[in-house]
Amino acid sequence: MAAKAKTAFFCRNCGFESPKWQGKCPSCAEWNTFTEEVIERPDDKEVWKDEKPDKKGNFPLALDEIAAGDIQRIATGDLELNRTLGGGIVPGSLVLVGGEPGIGKSTLMLQLAIELKKLKVLYVSGEESEQQIKMRADRLKGKNANLFISTEVAINKLFKQIKQLGPELVIIDSIQTLVSDFVDSTAGSIAQIKECAGQLMRYAKESNVPVFIIGHINKEGYIAGPKILEHMVDCVLQFEGDRNYTHRILRTIKNRFGSTSEIGIYKMEGDGLQQVNNPSELLITEKEEPLSGVAIAATMEGMRPMLIEVQALVSPAVYGNPQRTATGFDLRRMSMLLAVLEKRGGFAFGNKDVFLNIAGGLRVEDPAIDLSIACALLSSISDIALPLNICFAAEVGLSGELRGVSRIEQRITEAEKLGFDTIYISKHNMKSLNVAKYKIEIKAAGKMEQIYKELFAEG
Ligand code: TYD
Ligand code: MG
Repeated sequence: MAAKAKTAFFCRNCGFESPKWQGKCPSCAEWNTFTEEVIERPDDKEVWKDEKPDKKGNFPLALDEIAAGDIQRIATGDLELNRTLGGGIVPGSLVLVGGEPGIGKSTLMLQLAIELKKLKVLYVSGEESEQQIKMRADRLKGKNANLFISTEVAINKLFKQIKQLGPELVIIDSIQTLVSDFVDSTAGSIAQIKECAGQLMRYAKESNVPVFIIGHINKEGYIAGPKILEHMVDCVLQFEGDRNYTHRILRTIKNRFGSTSEIGIYKMEGDGLQQVNNPSELLITEKEEPLSGVAIAATMEGMRPMLIEVQALVSPAVYGNPQRTATGFDLRRMSMLLAVLEKRGGFAFGNKDVFLNIAGGLRVEDPAIDLSIACALLSSISDIALPLNICFAAEVGLSGELRGVSRIEQRITEAEKLGFDTIYISKHNMKSLNVAKYKIEIKAAGKMEQIYKELFAEG
């Protein structure tokens, strides 16, 4: 009797597995996301019963017998990429680089390929022709005799090329263009992406060659072929930024070999991506004289301190309902801060339009930015400009109390490095701080009230 293939249904959105088809995913509540996939082929044997004990080799090792040995990483010329990967490329690792179309993934990877002259690199592109890639490389002003370009999208043929060439690093641009003939569906379908990524994973592990795969993010913000792909790879890097601005952030979402709080920062220029080693300089606009509604926050992006500019505009609401807009900051959190200022400080925002903007198109989730937001709002509503050389780092609580924030030393050091004269922090951060160490003046307060008495009291 021929055994039947065993199948199961997987949610395309979250990867939830179910023995039968369902209209609505019980895990993520999305509709119509289940697809059927083979999980066991008919010729699979009853592995558990059929296998004989393994007499030679291939036996589990005692933990004590395993030599520790640090992972030997390949350092690239790109310090930002090394940082996000946790110190360089790990041999045999599979790295997914996700991002919206047009953000610069191909540029980032081609640049990496050109700059890694010590390795034989194979760059596989199903998105562009050899000529287009050559033109891009010329634009990046890069030459590398050790870099090979392929436009093969059939994965079995690609592996033939790989066997012939023997690359030491493989880049796939993008996973959505690859096809395997094991699977019937079209390129870019979940089944294809899963199959191809699985084959690349096996290749990477068995050959010890690191593989980077580029994956486009669809409009919902998932890397297409979504969670399944993220689970399969060792490392997920997300390339993001606002296309209207030049800077780009490479963020670690998952890393089996390092921390996930690292970020790399780049600037997209006419001749490729430039590493930004000092992001604060990019994010604070040069000003001759103080402007009202502007405050500087000493924030952290991952492990990196960064000074950024917060801009607020508070004006009488002329069109009936007051408007509230926040760009780069959580709108609900802004409403909370407005309520605190209103209730504890008596400032009337109720009939005012409030617009808030984080300069440079950055999105900030660090709570330490609260105090600068509150100050930018107060500066705008009272039309009193803050002095140019002050900055802030504290969280604001519901009763207007200033809370301590993480990594205060790093924030202070960064502010000092950039020439600020004064930083306002929470008094709760003072305990562990050696104030004598810094040249910058550190002012500590326990409540919002002290801040507005000091900075916005008129006369
Ligand atoms: P690209 O790497 O093609 O994006 P992705 O692979 O993520 O879809 O980059 C696309 C944008 O970058 C495109 O709008 C042109 C711009 N660009 C530069 O500004 N400078 C450059 O040197 C290059 C190569 C591209
Ligand atoms: Mg591309």
